[in-house]
Amino acid sequence: MLQIEGLSKRFGGLVAVDDLSFQAPRNTILGMIGVNGAGKTTVMNCISGLYSSDTGRITLDGKDITNKTPHDIAHHGLGRTFQVPRVFRRMTLIENLLSTVLDSPLSDAELVEQATSILDEVQLHELRYNYAEELSGGQQKLLELARVMMFDPGTILLDEPFAGVNPGLCKILIERIESLVDAGKTFLLISHDLTSIYRLSHHIVVLNQGQKIAEGNVEDIKNNPQVIEAYLGN
Ligand SMILES: Nc1ncnc2c1ncn2[C@@H]1O[C@H](COP(=O)(O)OP(=O)(O)OP(=O)(O)O)[C@@H](O)[C@H]1O
Ligand SMILES: [Mg+2]
Repeated sequence: MLQIEGLSKRFGGLVAVDDLSFQAPRNTILGMIGVNGAGKTTVMNCISGLYSSDTGRITLDGKDITNKTPHDIAHHGLGRTFQVPRVFRRMTLIENLLSTVLDSPLSDAELVEQATSILDEVQLHELRYNYAEELSGGQQKLLELARVMMFDPGTILLDEPFAGVNPGLCKILIERIESLVDAGKTFLLISHDLTSIYRLSHHIVVLNQGQKIAEGNVEDIKNNPQVIEAYLGN
Protein backbone atom coordinates (compact mmCIF):
# COMPACT_ATOMS: atom_id res chain seq x y z
CA MET A 1 0.00 0.00 0.00
CA LEU A 2 1.20 3.46 -0.96
CA GLN A 3 0.16 6.22 1.41
CA ILE A 4 0.66 9.97 0.98
CA GLU A 5 -0.11 12.36 3.84
CA GLY A 6 0.08 16.16 3.65
CA LEU A 7 2.50 16.25 0.71
CA SER A 8 3.59 19.70 -0.50
CA LYS A 9 6.17 20.77 -3.06
CA ARG A 10 7.06 24.34 -4.02
CA PHE A 11 9.15 25.69 -6.86
CA GLY A 12 10.03 29.20 -5.70
CA GLY A 13 6.69 30.99 -5.32
CA LEU A 14 4.73 28.27 -7.11
CA VAL A 15 2.99 25.66 -4.97
CA ALA A 16 2.97 22.69 -7.36
CA VAL A 17 1.58 20.22 -4.78
CA ASP A 18 -0.43 21.58 -1.88
CA ASP A 19 -1.10 19.50 1.25
CA LEU A 20 -2.10 16.41 -0.71
CA SER A 21 -3.20 13.14 0.89
CA PHE A 22 -4.35 9.90 -0.75
CA GLN A 23 -3.67 6.20 -0.67
CA ALA A 24 -3.40 3.37 -3.16
CA PRO A 25 -4.26 0.06 -1.47
CA ARG A 26 -2.54 -3.14 -2.59
CA ASN A 27 -3.99 -4.85 -5.66
CA THR A 28 -5.58 -1.68 -6.98
CA ILE A 29 -5.05 0.94 -9.64
CA LEU A 30 -5.29 4.52 -8.47
CA GLY A 31 -5.92 6.87 -11.38
CA MET A 32 -4.70 10.45 -11.15
CA ILE A 33 -6.09 13.08 -13.50
CA GLY A 34 -6.01 16.85 -13.80
CA VAL A 35 -5.39 19.56 -16.38
CA ASN A 36 -1.86 20.38 -17.64
CA GLY A 37 0.29 21.73 -14.83
CA ALA A 38 -2.05 20.40 -12.09
CA GLY A 39 0.91 18.78 -10.29
CA LYS A 40 0.53 15.10 -11.24
CA THR A 41 4.09 14.46 -12.40
CA THR A 42 5.46 16.41 -9.44
CA VAL A 43 3.59 14.04 -7.09
CA MET A 44 5.20 11.07 -8.87
CA ASN A 45 8.62 12.72 -8.70
CA CYS A 46 8.23 13.23 -4.93
CA ILE A 47 7.09 9.63 -4.38
CA SER A 48 9.97 8.16 -6.38
CA GLY A 49 12.55 10.41 -4.70
CA LEU A 50 13.47 12.45 -7.76
CA TYR A 51 12.29 15.59 -5.95
CA SER A 52 12.49 16.14 -2.24
CA SER A 53 9.14 17.15 -0.77
CA ASP A 54 8.73 20.24 1.43
CA THR A 55 6.18 18.70 3.79
CA GLY A 56 4.39 15.40 4.17
CA ARG A 57 5.00 11.74 4.68
CA ILE A 58 5.12 8.98 2.07
CA THR A 59 4.95 5.35 3.15
CA LEU A 60 5.23 2.23 1.03
CA ASP A 61 3.98 -1.01 2.58
CA GLY A 62 4.33 0.61 6.00
CA LYS A 63 7.92 1.85 5.43
CA ASP A 64 8.63 5.56 5.47
CA ILE A 65 10.23 6.44 2.12
CA THR A 66 9.90 10.23 2.41
CA ASN A 67 12.88 11.99 0.81
CA LYS A 68 14.92 8.80 0.49
CA THR A 69 17.06 8.47 -2.65
CA PRO A 70 15.45 7.10 -5.85
CA HIS A 71 17.80 4.13 -5.56
CA ASP A 72 16.64 3.29 -2.00
CA ILE A 73 12.99 3.73 -2.93
CA ALA A 74 13.40 1.37 -5.90
CA HIS A 75 14.91 -1.20 -3.52
CA HIS A 76 11.83 -0.83 -1.32
CA GLY A 77 9.83 -2.13 -4.31
CA LEU A 78 8.78 0.92 -6.27
CA GLY A 79 9.20 1.23 -10.04
CA ARG A 80 8.17 4.01 -12.37
CA THR A 81 8.07 5.22 -15.94
CA PHE A 82 8.49 8.82 -17.09
CA GLN A 83 6.19 11.14 -19.02
CA VAL A 84 9.17 11.99 -21.24
CA PRO A 85 10.99 8.64 -21.55
CA ARG A 86 14.39 8.29 -19.90
CA VAL A 87 15.83 5.22 -21.55
CA PHE A 88 19.56 4.42 -21.53
CA ARG A 89 20.12 5.64 -25.05
CA ARG A 90 23.59 4.14 -25.67
CA MET A 91 22.56 0.71 -24.44
CA THR A 92 20.68 -1.95 -26.39
CA LEU A 93 17.08 -2.74 -25.49
CA ILE A 94 18.15 -5.99 -23.83
CA GLU A 95 20.79 -4.10 -21.81
CA ASN A 96 18.19 -1.54 -20.73
CA LEU A 97 16.17 -4.38 -19.20
CA LEU A 98 19.19 -6.20 -17.73
CA SER A 99 20.32 -2.99 -15.99
CA THR A 100 17.47 -3.43 -13.49
CA VAL A 101 18.49 -6.92 -12.33
CA LEU A 102 22.25 -6.66 -11.76
CA ASP A 103 22.01 -8.47 -8.41
CA SER A 104 19.76 -11.29 -9.65
CA PRO A 105 20.66 -14.89 -8.72
CA LEU A 106 19.53 -16.06 -12.19
CA SER A 107 22.11 -16.89 -14.89
CA ASP A 108 22.81 -14.44 -17.73
CA ALA A 109 21.11 -16.81 -20.18
CA GLU A 110 17.97 -16.98 -18.04
CA LEU A 111 17.88 -13.19 -17.67
CA VAL A 112 18.29 -12.65 -21.42
CA GLU A 113 15.49 -15.11 -22.07
CA GLN A 114 13.24 -13.30 -19.59
CA ALA A 115 14.12 -9.89 -21.08
CA THR A 116 13.41 -11.15 -24.59
CA SER A 117 10.03 -12.49 -23.57
CA ILE A 118 9.09 -9.17 -21.92
CA LEU A 119 10.22 -7.24 -25.02
CA ASP A 120 8.05 -9.60 -27.05
CA GLU A 121 5.03 -8.58 -24.95
CA VAL A 122 5.49 -4.94 -25.97
CA GLN A 123 6.35 -5.93 -29.56
CA LEU A 124 9.97 -4.76 -29.38
CA HIS A 125 11.78 -8.11 -29.45
CA GLU A 126 12.95 -7.75 -33.06
CA LEU A 127 14.83 -4.60 -32.03
CA ARG A 128 16.35 -6.13 -28.90
CA TYR A 129 19.96 -5.67 -30.02
CA ASN A 130 19.42 -2.13 -31.34
CA TYR A 131 20.46 0.92 -29.34
CA ALA A 132 17.60 2.53 -27.42
CA GLU A 133 18.36 5.88 -29.07
CA GLU A 134 17.18 4.38 -32.37
CA LEU A 135 13.63 3.94 -31.05
CA SER A 136 10.71 6.24 -31.83
CA GLY A 137 9.08 8.22 -29.00
CA GLY A 138 6.25 5.69 -28.61
CA GLN A 139 8.69 2.77 -28.68
CA GLN A 140 10.74 4.42 -25.91
CA LYS A 141 7.60 4.54 -23.75
CA LEU A 142 7.16 0.82 -24.37
CA LEU A 143 10.80 0.15 -23.51
CA GLU A 144 10.35 1.95 -20.18
CA LEU A 145 7.32 -0.19 -19.46
CA ALA A 146 9.28 -3.33 -20.35
CA ARG A 147 12.14 -2.19 -18.08
CA VAL A 148 9.79 -1.78 -15.13
CA MET A 149 8.25 -5.21 -15.85
CA MET A 150 11.74 -6.76 -15.82
CA PHE A 151 12.51 -5.09 -12.49
CA ASP A 152 9.17 -6.46 -11.19
CA PRO A 153 8.44 -4.05 -8.29
CA GLY A 154 5.32 -4.40 -6.14
CA THR A 155 4.23 -0.81 -6.75
CA ILE A 156 4.40 0.81 -10.17
CA LEU A 157 3.94 4.48 -11.08
CA LEU A 158 3.04 5.10 -14.72
CA ASP A 159 3.13 8.67 -16.09
CA GLU A 160 1.17 8.86 -19.35
CA PRO A 161 1.99 5.29 -20.44
CA PHE A 162 -0.37 5.38 -23.43
CA ALA A 163 0.72 8.71 -24.94
CA GLY A 164 2.05 8.09 -28.43
CA VAL A 165 1.32 4.35 -28.32
CA ASN A 166 -0.92 2.94 -31.09
CA PRO A 167 -4.45 1.80 -30.11
CA GLY A 168 -3.84 -1.92 -30.76
CA LEU A 169 -0.85 -1.97 -28.45
CA CYS A 170 -2.64 0.21 -25.86
CA LYS A 171 -5.27 -2.52 -25.63
CA ILE A 172 -2.57 -5.14 -25.03
CA LEU A 173 -0.92 -2.92 -22.38
CA ILE A 174 -4.23 -2.32 -20.60
CA GLU A 175 -4.84 -6.08 -20.42
CA ARG A 176 -1.30 -6.61 -19.15
CA ILE A 177 -1.74 -3.97 -16.42
CA GLU A 178 -4.99 -5.65 -15.38
CA SER A 179 -3.28 -9.03 -15.11
CA LEU A 180 -0.44 -7.52 -13.04
CA VAL A 181 -3.01 -6.10 -10.61
CA ASP A 182 -4.62 -9.53 -10.34
CA ALA A 183 -1.13 -10.87 -9.55
CA GLY A 184 -0.84 -8.45 -6.58
CA LYS A 185 0.69 -5.25 -7.98
CA THR A 186 -0.36 -1.73 -7.04
CA PHE A 187 -0.44 1.04 -9.66
CA LEU A 188 -0.56 4.80 -9.66
CA LEU A 189 -1.61 5.77 -13.18
CA ILE A 190 -1.51 9.28 -14.62
CA SER A 191 -3.22 9.74 -17.97
CA HIS A 192 -5.07 12.33 -19.99
CA ASP A 193 -6.77 9.42 -21.78
CA LEU A 194 -9.93 9.30 -19.70
CA THR A 195 -11.21 6.17 -21.49
CA SER A 196 -8.29 4.09 -20.20
CA ILE A 197 -8.36 5.83 -16.79
CA TYR A 198 -12.06 5.01 -16.41
CA ARG A 199 -11.54 1.44 -17.62
CA LEU A 200 -8.57 0.69 -15.36
CA SER A 201 -8.94 2.71 -12.15
CA HIS A 202 -10.50 1.37 -8.98
CA HIS A 203 -10.29 4.82 -7.47
CA ILE A 204 -9.48 8.24 -8.95
CA VAL A 205 -7.90 11.37 -7.50
CA VAL A 206 -8.39 14.65 -9.36
CA LEU A 207 -5.81 17.41 -8.95
CA ASN A 208 -6.15 21.09 -9.76
CA GLN A 209 -3.41 23.62 -8.96
CA GLY A 210 -1.73 21.06 -6.72
CA GLN A 211 -4.82 20.37 -4.63
CA LYS A 212 -7.15 17.40 -4.59
CA ILE A 213 -10.51 18.68 -5.86
CA ALA A 214 -12.25 15.31 -6.02
CA GLU A 215 -11.74 11.67 -5.19
CA GLY A 216 -13.91 8.61 -5.69
CA ASN A 217 -14.82 5.74 -7.96
CA VAL A 218 -15.29 6.15 -11.71
CA GLU A 219 -18.99 7.01 -11.49
CA ASP A 220 -18.38 9.62 -8.76
CA ILE A 221 -15.71 11.30 -10.84
CA LYS A 222 -17.61 11.20 -14.15
CA ASN A 223 -20.52 13.01 -12.52
CA ASN A 224 -18.58 15.43 -10.31
CA PRO A 225 -19.43 19.04 -11.31
CA GLN A 226 -16.03 20.38 -10.15
CA VAL A 227 -14.23 17.87 -12.33
CA ILE A 228 -16.41 18.67 -15.33
CA GLU A 229 -15.77 22.38 -14.78
CA ALA A 230 -12.00 21.92 -14.37
CA TYR A 231 -11.82 19.90 -17.59
CA LEU A 232 -14.40 21.53 -19.80
CA GLY A 233 -14.97 24.96 -18.25
CA ASN A 234 -18.40 26.08 -17.15
N1 LIG B 1 11.48 21.22 -11.92
C1 LIG B 1 10.58 22.22 -11.90
N2 LIG B 1 10.93 23.51 -11.70
C2 LIG B 1 10.01 24.51 -11.66
N3 LIG B 1 8.69 24.30 -11.81
C3 LIG B 1 8.27 23.06 -12.02
C4 LIG B 1 9.17 21.95 -12.07
N4 LIG B 1 8.46 20.81 -12.29
C5 LIG B 1 7.18 21.20 -12.38
N5 LIG B 1 7.06 22.53 -12.20
C6 LIG B 1 5.81 23.30 -12.21
O1 LIG B 1 4.91 22.66 -11.33
C7 LIG B 1 3.59 22.67 -11.86
C8 LIG B 1 3.09 21.25 -11.96
O2 LIG B 1 3.82 20.58 -12.99
P1 LIG B 1 3.60 19.04 -13.29
O3 LIG B 1 4.64 18.65 -14.29
O4 LIG B 1 3.57 18.29 -12.03
O5 LIG B 1 2.14 19.04 -13.94
P2 LIG B 1 1.30 17.84 -14.57
O6 LIG B 1 0.01 17.78 -13.86
O7 LIG B 1 2.13 16.62 -14.63
O8 LIG B 1 1.02 18.42 -16.05
P3 LIG B 1 0.93 17.65 -17.48
O9 LIG B 1 -0.44 17.05 -17.54
O10 LIG B 1 1.10 18.74 -18.46
O11 LIG B 1 2.02 16.65 -17.53
C9 LIG B 1 3.67 23.40 -13.19
O12 LIG B 1 3.27 24.73 -12.99
C10 LIG B 1 5.14 23.31 -13.56
O13 LIG B 1 5.54 24.43 -14.30
MG1 LIG C 1 2.91 15.50 -16.14
